[in-house]
Amino acid sequence: MTEAKDGRTTSVRDVRLVSLPRIDIESGSITAINSGTDVEFNIKRVYYLYDVPNRSDRGAHAHKELFQLILAASGSFEVELDDSVEKKSFILRQPDEGLLIPPGLWRDLKQFSGGAICLVLASLEYNESDYIRAKQEFLKYKKG
Ligand code: TYD
Repeated sequence: MTEAKDGRTTSVRDVRLVSLPRIDIESGSITAINSGTDVEFNIKRVYYLYDVPNRSDRGAHAHKELFQLILAASGSFEVELDDSVEKKSFILRQPDEGLLIPPGLWRDLKQFSGGAICLVLASLEYNESDYIRAKQEFLKYKKG
């Protein structure tokens, strides 16, 4: 299972776009995400970013153990990932498409559209000691 992956050795090539199930009915659409099946980790926490002011950037950190599935529940935004060697960028704009991010990757979230909602499903509860918030510290961490 992906959850065993060590954050020091992950690369941007481990990031995947995941197609989520959707049910389209005349009165609107539904996407349901089941822990362990539609997303391969057990979901411990759900949070969302909203009311992000124009030109605001979020993220600017890495996690040591946390897996996340990030999606645009509304609007769009860009997620730029960095493994200290390579960078990869994704634009999220579909509520039925999630970005699966393993631990050990620096992320910058930017270019939020008006009304964007960034929904995050996370494998662990909030724990500040799982964060690496300084880029220099991240580069040192990735060197082992
Ligand atoms: P942070 O993860 O740095 O936000 P982002 O990556 O979206 O820019 O968190 C911002 C603040 O919110 C920080 O003070 C910690 C707090 N926070 C919680 O208390 N619980 C949580 O689950 C999250 C994600 C953040």
